[in-house]
Amino acid sequence: MKRHSISTNFNQLFKQIIPEEISDNVFTLVGKVFPVITAGKEDHYNSMIGSGGGLGFLFKRPTTWCVLRADRYTLEMIQKEQTYTMSYFSDEYKEQILFLGSKSGRDSEKMKEVELTSVQTPSGDISFKEARLIIECKLTQITTLNPNDFCTQEAKDYINEAYKEPNDYRKYVFGEITHIWVKK
Ligand SMILES: Cc1cc2nc3c(=O)[nH]c(=O)nc-3n(C[C@H](O)[C@H](O)[C@H](O)COP(=O)(O)O)c2cc1C
Repeated sequence: MKRHSISTNFNQLFKQIIPEEISDNVFTLVGKVFPVITAGKEDHYNSMIGSGGGLGFLFKRPTTWCVLRADRYTLEMIQKEQTYTMSYFSDEYKEQILFLGSKSGRDSEKMKEVELTSVQTPSGDISFKEARLIIECKLTQITTLNPNDFCTQEAKDYINEAYKEPNDYRKYVFGEITHIWVKK
């Protein structure tokens, strides 16, 4: 059953914090909680789950980064919209968020099928009512990973193996953090 309540009053559910107030451990957040990355607007949006990346400072700006395969539909949407959200959920929503990583929105109706309730941030980006932490980002840089730039054999092997598939490039995606929201 699809739960869609884009009109939910965002400010009733979430309050804004600054980067220094994120209380989660970054390694837990990125590597265990996993972000749901969502791009698009109310009329059309798409989400995927990511597992690599981080949070920090880049050119003096609070920034997130993630590593996306070039063929992800979410990446196409990020490039089109130039903004996106990284949403983090408690464990009880694991099944729903893994569903977002199970098939592409390019050729499925997964956003209609997923049992999460979409909400629109005051900036018009999309996240979910069930999220406990939402980081809104403005796209700042997309860099294609070059196998020649890797310094360890393990990383070289990984990227060379990945690049055997045509058009399967990996992209570093950097986004300046514009807003952070936590569940009230
Ligand atoms: C736990 C988990 C972690 C994932 N991490 C990444 C990742 O870091 N980068 C990536 O490109 N895909 C990752 N994926 C795969 C995408 O989430 C998946 O292919 C998704 O269906 C892409 O959807 P889209 O084409 O609609 O954007 C992950 C999947 C799972 C289940």
